[in-house]
Amino acid sequence: MKIGIDKIGMYTPKQYVDLVELAKHRRVDPAKFTIGIGQDKMAVAPLSQDAISMAANAAAKILTAEDKAAIDLVILGTESGVDNSKAGALYVQKLLDLPNRARVLEIKEACYGATAGLQYAKLHILQNPTAKALVIGADIARYGLDTSGEVTQGAGAVALLVSAKPKILALDLATSYFSEEVPDFWRPLNQMIAEVDGKYSNEQYIRFFKETFADYQAKTKYGLNDYAALTFHLPYTKMGLKAMREILPQVDEAKQNELQQHYQQETLYGRQIGNIYTGSLYLALLSLLDNDAILQPGMRIGLYSYGSGAVGEFFSGVLQPEFKAQLDPMYYLDLLAKRQKLALDDYEAQFTAQLDPESENQALTDDDPFAKYYFAGIVDKKRV
Ligand code: CAA
Repeated sequence: MKIGIDKIGMYTPKQYVDLVELAKHRRVDPAKFTIGIGQDKMAVAPLSQDAISMAANAAAKILTAEDKAAIDLVILGTESGVDNSKAGALYVQKLLDLPNRARVLEIKEACYGATAGLQYAKLHILQNPTAKALVIGADIARYGLDTSGEVTQGAGAVALLVSAKPKILALDLATSYFSEEVPDFWRPLNQMIAEVDGKYSNEQYIRFFKETFADYQAKTKYGLNDYAALTFHLPYTKMGLKAMREILPQVDEAKQNELQQHYQQETLYGRQIGNIYTGSLYLALLSLLDNDAILQPGMRIGLYSYGSGAVGEFFSGVLQPEFKAQLDPMYYLDLLAKRQKLALDDYEAQFTAQLDPESENQALTDDDPFAKYYFAGIVDKKRV
């Protein structure tokens, strides 16, 4: 029995900051941001787009009435949750008009939450082969104005429809995970912005990658030559490359070049959007599938997920015969092209305003043509 990703949908808000402009404003050489970090633009969520609305927008792109009727598991992975108690996935279930005979929950472990959801969904479908599961990663990454993490902010969501007849990627059954409490990145309860030990977080990301990749290699006997491409959680696009370079010496130069060429394709969306935390690995997968003309059915893709704190997981899947027909690259080209550039004064004013909890009490609207759903504000203490 095959289980895996049947459809992938993505949403990112309509406004972005140009990182060359930001670099000049911060008196940094722009090449540090565009080459050293590997980011050109970062998506900025207006107050009218939160983790819930972005999640619903990403899922609305892919779900048919038939899919909706079959969904009996909805998982939202997020570290930008809007409630300390209630699962954000319940709002998503209602907005999308999904069946009530479903298990609906939220998973938190930094950027790893959606991968935990995907693995949960895999086991769920094993037990319920006729059902479908909706797994979404949605986040807003905020480090603070004029911090070293600022250039790695972003916002967006990726939705995965998981089923026993996956048309995109059939997941291999094996998986390798590794967890350890490390203080590399966290967000205290009273803060809208993350705390991070940047250099240390890079080291942990790489350490967990080497641990999980080696374990997966031992378990499955797949060598690096067995993968057409490796996809990574991309907090910024240079990060995955740093990790991949640790294992490239395992193969000859031709294969090294091949893997690095595919890697370029997986970074194209992330370069323009930034870190979307839980959705980031799946944004890289979508970018690879949408932009890489060389990939063919039957090829194996590796996936590395990392959530600070920290949990890492390496797993893989095989491209399915009809995978290209499931994709819609022109839609995302259009979505990214139609975004509006934010003036830096407006970006800073919006950022500062959003740190104030009172900001959500106003009546909000959103005219983004790619957003079916938006957050309209808090009325009588309830989110609308
Ligand atoms: N031209 C070209 N390159 C330049 C340059 C220039 N003028 N100036 C600097 N660079 C290069 C540097 O050489 C460096 O390259 P290498 O990493 O290949 O050595 C790169 O630009 C970055 O420079 P610094 O290391 O000096 O940058 P920094 O101290 O400002 O911090 C950062 C970079 C640590 C990534 C910081 O942005 C940060 O803290 N980001 C948030 C945390 C993060 O993303 N961590 C990733 C792992 S954790 C994770 O994955 C979970 C998650 O999502 C948060």
